[in-house]
Amino acid sequence: MSRIYNFNAGPAALPVEVLVKAQSELVEYGKVGMSLMEMSHRSQDFQAVIDAAEANVRALMGVTDDYAVLFLQGGASLQFATIPMNLRRPGRSADYVNTGAWAGKAAKEAGLTGDVHIAWDGRAEDFKRAPKPCELNLSPDAEYVHICSNETIGGIRFAEFPSTDAPLIADMSSEIMSRAVDVNRFGMIYAGAQKNIGPSGLALVIIRKDLMERCPETVPYFLRYTTHANEGSMYNTPNTWGIYILRLVTDGMLEQGGIAAIEKADEEKAAALYSILDSSSFWTAVADKESRSIMNVVWRLPSEELEEKFVADAKKAGLVGLKGHRSVGGIRASIYNAVPRESVDALIAFMKDFEAKNG
Ligand SMILES: Cc1ncc(COP(=O)(O)O)c(C=O)c1O
Repeated sequence: MSRIYNFNAGPAALPVEVLVKAQSELVEYGKVGMSLMEMSHRSQDFQAVIDAAEANVRALMGVTDDYAVLFLQGGASLQFATIPMNLRRPGRSADYVNTGAWAGKAAKEAGLTGDVHIAWDGRAEDFKRAPKPCELNLSPDAEYVHICSNETIGGIRFAEFPSTDAPLIADMSSEIMSRAVDVNRFGMIYAGAQKNIGPSGLALVIIRKDLMERCPETVPYFLRYTTHANEGSMYNTPNTWGIYILRLVTDGMLEQGGIAAIEKADEEKAAALYSILDSSSFWTAVADKESRSIMNVVWRLPSEELEEKFVADAKKAGLVGLKGHRSVGGIRASIYNAVPRESVDALIAFMKDFEAKNG
């Protein structure tokens, strides 16, 4: 088996043990003579998988019974639309914090169906940092406050989450389960699975049960959180593959020692990479120090030509996925939970060599 050093932003590296286990179970699951993917989602075997996935999420993140844990389709992007439809009642407004591409998309979508108030805008500073809680201009009557806790493209994160009177909603797609979070501080947390917890096409939603009840009667049933919560995420045929892989990934996280152990490993990987970026003027880390993401590390080289060479040479050396997002350029290394320390060390060794040859 040959495994490359994978820094893709999402879909991204999955734990190799998960892939091996999924491979071993793909044709025959247990002793039932068929794949889990060929089985009814109403079967006992699949019910056990989705129950285990939910139990794992609750155990890892400390999710209490007053929150529903949902496995939904449409990725994180559909949540951009369904959050305002469900949680912002007619005639009311919601606060959005604009930290970059993803927060901006969420706000734009919400603007289609009602009022949005931008409580902070990082655009003038090129989205180089997340705001401090005291900088937010929150409205007293907002239905909720939406943040993107980690901007995958800009490589910034909230070092500290704001305390808000209105329920706080966080898109944690690119950092879910990489840091300890007090779920009770949030009205809702959601994430596309394809970075830290599974494959694409699946969104994990953790939502306070009383909030779901706000949903106006005009919202289509499929788009209501209550519909999916009442049916155990099986109102329709769920993404069985995604839920199965998420279960395996989270099994592995629990074995690894839970979020505390993962956070420590993730912080060490990020610190090693930022340390080389800070060591020489050849590299320029894009994010302000206090907002640096530990998942998506974004930097520039002295010229675009050198950046192109860096990406091409890295690929030849077996390091892939390092091209910055097309909207911002530069270099981006996504070092999610499943990216081993060994990959980060290989990247650092490559960078030292590249600087020596091109600096
Ligand atoms: C922070 C963030 N939010 C939302 C999305 C959109 O997720 P999806 O493609 O699952 O709709 C992404 C995708 O990269 C993301 O990084």
